[in-house]
Amino acid sequence: MAVRTILRYGHPDLLRVSKIVDDPCDQKIKQLVEDMVDTMKAHDGAGLAAPQIGILKRVIVFGFERNERYPNAEPVPETVLVNPEYEPLDLTQEEDWEGCLSIPGMRGLVPRFAHIRYRGHDLEGNVISREVTGFHARVVQHEMDHLNGILYPFRIRDMKRFGFADSLPFEQ
Ligand code: NI
Repeated sequence: MAVRTILRYGHPDLLRVSKIVDDPCDQKIKQLVEDMVDTMKAHDGAGLAAPQIGILKRVIVFGFERNERYPNAEPVPETVLVNPEYEPLDLTQEEDWEGCLSIPGMRGLVPRFAHIRYRGHDLEGNVISREVTGFHARVVQHEMDHLNGILYPFRIRDMKRFGFADSLPFEQ
């Protein structure tokens, strides 16, 4: 278990598409997940994707009871997803403020699907399938974007709603 260095915006690995994991039960994936959880918690993250620590595999972790970086967010169950996928359950999108541990200190207003179903495997190979809304749905879409080399600034519609968290005049 270890806190790993988080790659920052500009690193080419953050722009690459991560690879499918052949065996979610592989001991190496378990070790990777332990490092990801340690790293996420050390930085008060709401979630983390494997490419953020330089491992280009389709693995994400997310969840918290309470999060200092998103004090208004409802709790999200602590979850590991290997080879995750999601689908919007309707086309409604909502905008809210997001940050990213790979883009420290900044926030942007990002549209996301409000209501999704997601699916993936846990470390025992069981299927996890959930229908979620709100911040939970937002976090999952953000982390899955990382697996496809997409960072949240790419989705911002109005770049006036992007900046350093401590300089933005808007409530985040
Ligand atoms: Ni991120």
